[in-house]
Amino acid sequence: MATDEAEATAGWTTEDQILDVHPSRRRLLKWLIRLGVGAFAIAFAVPALAIRTLQQERKTVAAGDVLVYATGERAGQPVIADQLQAGQGAQAFPQGKEENQDNLVELVRIAPGSGGEGLVAYSAICTHLGCSVIAQPNAEGHIVCPCHGSMFDPANGARVLHGPAGRPLPSLPITVDSSGEVTADGTFSGPVGPD
Ligand code: FES
Repeated sequence: MATDEAEATAGWTTEDQILDVHPSRRRLLKWLIRLGVGAFAIAFAVPALAIRTLQQERKTVAAGDVLVYATGERAGQPVIADQLQAGQGAQAFPQGKEENQDNLVELVRIAPGSGGEGLVAYSAICTHLGCSVIAQPNAEGHIVCPCHGSMFDPANGARVLHGPAGRPLPSLPITVDSSGEVTADGTFSGPVGPD
């Protein structure tokens, strides 16, 4: 008798032993258990994924962020204020927040005699339809969008000189630390990109 039972259960897995029932029911119960485990895993994985995505989306520029070059030979390196000569521009990201394209910053060193002075920073995302503006200001020192020709005046709050953009590029307060690195001193003054 004991031998018959031993033979009948030979090769059983732990699940088989727990589900000591008719083979067809056992198979059904196994599937139900596996489905339950799968649903349990999904119930935890989906909210975790959603939270992670939200955390990434929330990575917007903030006070204290070091600005690093977005492109070129110096991509990823901190922007040193003195590297930008009068009339020159550069585009940068807050370090560690490059995955959010809305963080792209347009830095311009205002040329003397153009109505302002010093280094200024604005969103590099055009307020018309969201193209990135050209990093280098034009010969007149104006920021130009390559998509539909909007033009902004960096010496005067990036006001619109030429449409179709309907509002200025949001400004970004910046500071220069003792080592010359440019850092954000707040966030954009308004919504980035098109309304
Ligand atoms: Fe810049 Fe249209 S997206 S002018």
